[in-house]
Amino acid sequence: MPVVAGIPTLHRSQFRISSQSKKTGGSHSPAAHDERMKIIHVTDIHLTGEGGTVLERSPGHNFLACLDHIVAHHADADLCVITGDLAHWGEREAYEHLQQILSPFPIETRLMIGNHDDRQIFQAVFPDTPSDANGFVQWSEATKAGRFIYLDTTEPGTHAGHFGHDRQQWLRAELENLEDEACYLFMHHHPSPIGIRAMDDIGQVNAPELRAILHAHRSKIAHIFFGHCHLPLSGTVCGIPFAALRGTNHHGWQDFTGSPRLKGAELTPAYNVVLLENGDCVIHTIDFTYAGPIAEFGTRHADWAREPEAAV
Ligand SMILES: [Fe+2]
Ligand SMILES: [Fe+2]
Repeated sequence: MPVVAGIPTLHRSQFRISSQSKKTGGSHSPAAHDERMKIIHVTDIHLTGEGGTVLERSPGHNFLACLDHIVAHHADADLCVITGDLAHWGEREAYEHLQQILSPFPIETRLMIGNHDDRQIFQAVFPDTPSDANGFVQWSEATKAGRFIYLDTTEPGTHAGHFGHDRQQWLRAELENLEDEACYLFMHHHPSPIGIRAMDDIGQVNAPELRAILHAHRSKIAHIFFGHCHLPLSGTVCGIPFAALRGTNHHGWQDFTGSPRLKGAELTPAYNVVLLENGDCVIHTIDFTYAGPIAEFGTRHADWAREPEAAV
């Protein structure tokens, strides 16, 4: 897969499966050289230094369980994208922890920053991550599915998303320079309100300007992927489909009462498997902590909804 020069390549020969994982099997063959592209979308891992906890959970343990599952079942993925909130407190130890966890991970990985991240410390630990001329952690790359554009919506000192004039200019130029190819946008913050007041209070401050850009170039943008909300979301913005998902450590709850307080619940963490082929996009949400039995049924009409032993 073509990549932008300078992007850190995190290919490693073997990923160490953590002791917590009992999943085995899955494909370990290299990515097929066809038009199909398989992307893993992970978000909001909220790492701390090794052994730290966030909301009484272990983000390191949970992220490792996620990577274990990916390696066991989707080692043929072309790319893994983590859409921000890499660290919970933005401290150097958290990024070093991330570096340590990712070092044996065999799938190329793109790291983006969110409101919990510290741009300068992140860049110090991951100096090969591309940035634009103004130092924002945003770049684009050509892939076999089209151009991937990674945006930096982070602003120090606030949990809200920002996408000021200079970042807008950069994105406009990227989109204007697109030739006849599909384009996929990745960002941390939701680009437009989602109808949950507390999340929208820390949503995209520059949503009107961002929407204007999206609207002007909507015919070129095939899909938008984001995180931040810790919620499974799908819909459209300016006619462009989007998808978001829960984080790997802690999860949001959909409170539509207008409360200014963010709500969370003990739900199932997930990652998304995104299949891109012939301009189509299919997204599977994977409950990677599920360890129960898997039922099996035939697909013939006579098999439908029968117990396996009753199928004829
Ligand atoms: Fe987050
Ligand atoms: Fe966030």
